[in-house]
Amino acid sequence: MRFTHLILIAMAACTVFPDPVQAGDAVSYRRHVWPILKRHCFACHSGGKPEGKLSLATTASIARGGESGPLLVPGKPSESLLIEMISGEEPSMPPKGRPLSKAKIDILKTWIGQGGKIDSIAPLAESKVMIPKEYTHAPALAAVAFSPDGQRIACACRSEVVVIAANGKGTPLRLQTGSDLLTHVEFSADGKLLLAGGGTPSRFGEVSVFSMAEGKRILSRRVSQDTLFRGEFSPDGKRVALGGADGAVYVIPLDKTSKPRRIELHSDWVVDVAWTPDGTKLITAGRDKATKVASVETGKLLRTVDSSAERVSSVVTDGVFAVSAGKSRTLIGYQLGVALQNVGVTGAGNGAKPVTRRNQYVKNFEAQPGEVIDIALSGDRKSIAVAGAAAEVRVYTVADRKRTAVVKGVRVPVFCVALNQNASLLAVGSRDGRLEVFRLPKGEQVFSRIPVPMKKTVTRR
Ligand code: HEC
Repeated sequence: MRFTHLILIAMAACTVFPDPVQAGDAVSYRRHVWPILKRHCFACHSGGKPEGKLSLATTASIARGGESGPLLVPGKPSESLLIEMISGEEPSMPPKGRPLSKAKIDILKTWIGQGGKIDSIAPLAESKVMIPKEYTHAPALAAVAFSPDGQRIACACRSEVVVIAANGKGTPLRLQTGSDLLTHVEFSADGKLLLAGGGTPSRFGEVSVFSMAEGKRILSRRVSQDTLFRGEFSPDGKRVALGGADGAVYVIPLDKTSKPRRIELHSDWVVDVAWTPDGTKLITAGRDKATKVASVETGKLLRTVDSSAERVSSVVTDGVFAVSAGKSRTLIGYQLGVALQNVGVTGAGNGAKPVTRRNQYVKNFEAQPGEVIDIALSGDRKSIAVAGAAAEVRVYTVADRKRTAVVKGVRVPVFCVALNQNASLLAVGSRDGRLEVFRLPKGEQVFSRIPVPMKKTVTRR
């Protein structure tokens, strides 16, 4: 059985797919056409300054067209600008990324052929996030985190953060965000703030900050035009660095006004980011299979420490080592001091020099039993927990790479793990939406529960 990457699964779950069209069917704008435009075009063709002066935000603006006039000639797909822009060997739209599939182009052609009517409701300019009072299906847990005092656990449950007591008892605190999908949660070092990162695919990335004392959101910032992935608070707690779907790392100040920084490093999604404890460097993991080190001050790449044959999904650092892993089942430690010796700036982005002296700074951990989806670092930065497709979570000390615990029989696939300050507690979040907490090193279960409230009549195992 092949387990797809956490984020892929999670994003697929909330991406809008057009209904299939059968031959002879009437193609509906709302049901068939809009989902395609929303997914592939909306990010650039909406907002205050839409590209090509073409806004897809309202039915009226779609009917009007852009700089060059109307998008379509009713009944004549081959004469319509819309079709011209998306077809051919190298379609002009979308300008980057994969062209539309033939099936989707056919839907648009058929729609125009049938008259190109823009029926019924206008697309929602601001699609509202729906958070049910009670869920019928538990949302997958995308991220978990312990508070620094170990008393609470925060879980990313689709669009909301659910904070639960670390003994599993009591009524959870539910904190709503404006994101379709959260991918990251984290407490500040003093435990006063809770941060959630995520976004709405093809629309925006969002960071939300909650005050734990007040139990409410005190800041929300939207950056980029796509979901943000995992990352970390800066050591001074003033910023957060999160991966972006556009290959960039976003360093976002946690105030309302300072400009976020965008550091281009990878050719594909940046799925995780970690700060060195001195706050000078960022370690990044990309879906482009690379693990990189960049300078915070200059935003420049210092070194591509590894180019794996497989997707990397998570990275952590204690300042001496960076540890990353992914699909290939090898958990690798990179000795940063050695890796960065005599390395100047080797070029930005993907123009980096090939990795050299790899054998001197790479320290392998033991092989993993399955694809790794998440690595968690304890608060004291001494231990890591490693989890993913296999039904066990392994815990290691970073400095000597020795295994200190194995917790067997966890629910698979595990999407996220967290350790408390001294790695005496392990939290495990799974795709089926259950949070399990274990005491280490023995692995006794403290509790197992679904953090969100469930509809009573529906029982899920
Ligand atoms: C990454 C941003 C981006 C995405 C995504 C994108 N476009 Fe564009 N589009 C542009 C830019 C920039 C222009 C203006 C420059 C040009 O015409 O190439 C433009 C122009 C156009 C125009 C011409 C408007 C006019 O009247 O001159 C059309 C039509 C168009 N886009 C359709 C689409 C469609 C359909 C999609 C989705 C399949 C799409 N675009 C996706 C950036 C984008």
